[in-house]
Amino acid sequence: MPSLNEIRSTFLNFFEKNGHRIVDSSPLVPRNDPTLMFTNSGMVQFKNCFTGLEKRDYVRATTAQKCVRAGGKHNDLDNVGYTARHHTFFEMLGNFSFGDYFKEGAIPFAWELLTKEFDIPKDKLLVTVYHNDDEAADLWKKVAGLSDDRIIRIATNDNFWQMGPTGPCGPCTEIFFDHGDKIAGGPPGSPDEDGDRFIEIWNNVFMQNEQFEDGSMRALDMQSIDTGMGLERIGALLQGKHDNYDTDLMRNLMEASAHATSSEIDGPGNVHHRVIADHLRSTSFLIADGVMPSSDGRGYVLRRIMRRAMRHAHLLGAKDPVMHRLVPALVREMGAAYPELGQAQALIEETLRLEETRFKTTLDRGLKLLDDELSGLPDDAALPGEVAFKLYDTYGFPLDLTQDALREKGREVATDGFDTAMAEQKAKARASWAGSGEAADATVWFDIAEKNGVTEFLGYDTEAAEGQILALVVDGAIAPKADGKVSIVVNQTPFYAESGGQVGDQGVIETETGSARITDTKKVAGVFIHIAELTSGEITKGQAARLIVDHTRRSAIRANHSATHLLHEALRRALGDHVAQKGSLNADDRLRFDFSHSKGLTANEITRVEAEVNDFIRQNTSVETRIMTPDDARGLGAQALFGEKYGDEVRVVSMGRLAGSNKGADKATYSLELCGGTHVKRTGDIGAFVAIGDSASSAGVRRFEALTGQAALDYLNAQNARLIETAAVLKTAPSDVADRVRALAEERKALANEVAQLRRELAMGGGAAGAPEIKEINGVKFLAQVVSGVTGKDLPALVDSLKEKIGSGAVLVVADTGGKAAVAAGVTADMTDKVSAVDIVKAAATALGGKGGGGRADMAQAGGADASKAAEAIAAAEAAIGA
Ligand code: ALA
Repeated sequence: MPSLNEIRSTFLNFFEKNGHRIVDSSPLVPRNDPTLMFTNSGMVQFKNCFTGLEKRDYVRATTAQKCVRAGGKHNDLDNVGYTARHHTFFEMLGNFSFGDYFKEGAIPFAWELLTKEFDIPKDKLLVTVYHNDDEAADLWKKVAGLSDDRIIRIATNDNFWQMGPTGPCGPCTEIFFDHGDKIAGGPPGSPDEDGDRFIEIWNNVFMQNEQFEDGSMRALDMQSIDTGMGLERIGALLQGKHDNYDTDLMRNLMEASAHATSSEIDGPGNVHHRVIADHLRSTSFLIADGVMPSSDGRGYVLRRIMRRAMRHAHLLGAKDPVMHRLVPALVREMGAAYPELGQAQALIEETLRLEETRFKTTLDRGLKLLDDELSGLPDDAALPGEVAFKLYDTYGFPLDLTQDALREKGREVATDGFDTAMAEQKAKARASWAGSGEAADATVWFDIAEKNGVTEFLGYDTEAAEGQILALVVDGAIAPKADGKVSIVVNQTPFYAESGGQVGDQGVIETETGSARITDTKKVAGVFIHIAELTSGEITKGQAARLIVDHTRRSAIRANHSATHLLHEALRRALGDHVAQKGSLNADDRLRFDFSHSKGLTANEITRVEAEVNDFIRQNTSVETRIMTPDDARGLGAQALFGEKYGDEVRVVSMGRLAGSNKGADKATYSLELCGGTHVKRTGDIGAFVAIGDSASSAGVRRFEALTGQAALDYLNAQNARLIETAAVLKTAPSDVADRVRALAEERKALANEVAQLRRELAMGGGAAGAPEIKEINGVKFLAQVVSGVTGKDLPALVDSLKEKIGSGAVLVVADTGGKAAVAAGVTADMTDKVSAVDIVKAAATALGGKGGGGRADMAQAGGADASKAAEAIAAAEAAIGA
């Protein structure tokens, strides 16, 4: 009996042998389809190959595609566990032709695989075709020898396959297996077709049309093939089972569940083990593909599945978290086919354990509330919606979890009441938001959030993605199409919106009809606002759009943001634990980090911090991101912003390994921070780190500025170029520049002294007033001299030399400094009790049209407006001495 793993290989190998390329499954979060929540069939990754938009280097492909059908349009969640063939996660095997073979190739391939490779008896098979597809019917007759009664023509959309409201489509042929008349049910197209006797095992779609939004359809340029066969179904069939959960793979997972909960696999707990096995697969694969539990979008679907599984584990009597203990069994079963599972094993286990630990605290109380409420109601009454809302709001019970719990009791939720309570809560949130003083023009964003929900951010994993345009805002108001400057809202985006110090992304957005340059991205009420300028054509609401982030710029921002984390830790280690983040800027051209510290950093401290950051850059260890509760994060020692309000869960970014630490993995981590930003994959991606300044930002807060990567190298290169240029000017080697400049500075100082001396000598030797004569006033000798070609700074030395000349008395020097005047007076020490230099200089300065004057009794200086009044100044000085 072949295992599911063997069947998968047989399928892929068969088509490889027949010229098909084995292509890896694409991720569960579609990269190229904005309308899909999760990848739900094999053709999703090839959508553009069918329409001709994308060309690959192969025209035949085969895949085993991971699919999730939960939460979105195809939602199987409610039924999982209770039926034989519903899954939230399943694998779709498919073969694809892009303009290569068509029906004439696909039908023989399908028949050969089923009847030769899989050895299914021919008489157990029958097919359906689209009612007017004679070509397919003839091929089945010719290739398989099927009689007319085994080729059933179906006129409905059941045999015209469409991927969604738009996109490639075409008629299809479905292959059914007949389990025989011991099982009830009629053939396809008959009134009792829903019975279990005839099971569809393979759909072959003849892709030949494209459907457009306006309802029109065009014929595709090329005719292609898209097929899908559920591995679990074909597996059950080939293993002689009727129930997908009886296949080896599912059974092994259920055994693990039974073992972990010490319960019987086939007893009353069977339905719980089925739910757990299925949900273990979907949750683990979603986490491996980057989805994290949250309260919105994909993350909320993941949370709903997780919590549903947890309730079923609880019903099996599990007291401790169970789901994470089953991950090794899943990796054993599926890790070889999907290596991403093993790579993400630690993350999957940790995410499941944290979610389950947290949910356990409210699960018991919520279930008790549910029981109490039900006991007060008539037997068949629906649970009031308000109670379901309370369970949702207070106990974290997603609505479908409550419905699942009631299903076992044959009861329902009155969902109207639930919706009303939800709407009331939103209105309250809006009212409190409106009262919080946010800008009035933000109302438009709140309206958009209310109508469409918050924007899903895809930018941790990708820089390009498709989104659907939900709203266009021009001049603060909703507009039907873009015009010049426009703000664009999409359902999902790779663009990071400015927050946490990281600047918003830039890039382009393109639709079928136009494109725009995105100059910034901001976020209000959870809505990402792409601030854009139309560059060509037109962009209209409802269009699918391709959003591409400017990669170079984002890489530089990432490097700066990661370097800021390393810097934060390096500063803390260098300066002390008081260092706390007060603000930061992570732009593309630089980083800035404000932190509490009262004094400037010494050159030595800056060098040490810079060197430590560079050490961890060169260490080149991977940067890891996890989601946890704020308390758990703080327990690990993560740096958080004091006073900041964090939600139920936080993103923790860790980087750098401490050598020789034996304190366990988390304690050996160098930097651990709560952060929603985008980061490098490995610290080496930062490239280099150069400090460019430390300054005071505000009282007790320092600001550290630095550059990374190319900007750091550019900065160092520019510095170096300046050094080389300076060396050339100095005619010396760059290494000798400092010595050369020091020598020049000393030489300059000596020369300056010499010049001053010469200037003084020159001034004293031949002033405009000729040789001065000594007068005697009131018994005080007085000598005055008018000089030029000197400055105020030279006057004290001149005063001193005049004082020396007269031995005892008062002196005055009036200098012509180019029209204006400087004046200084001096009095020898023996005369200062008779006359003060300050009085003399004040009198002289007044005569020179100046004011004031200051100094000591033996020496004072002042300035004046008019040097031509020198004679008046001398006369005024004489009068002052005589007074
Ligand atoms: N795309 C087709 C399906 O999902 C094969 O059924």
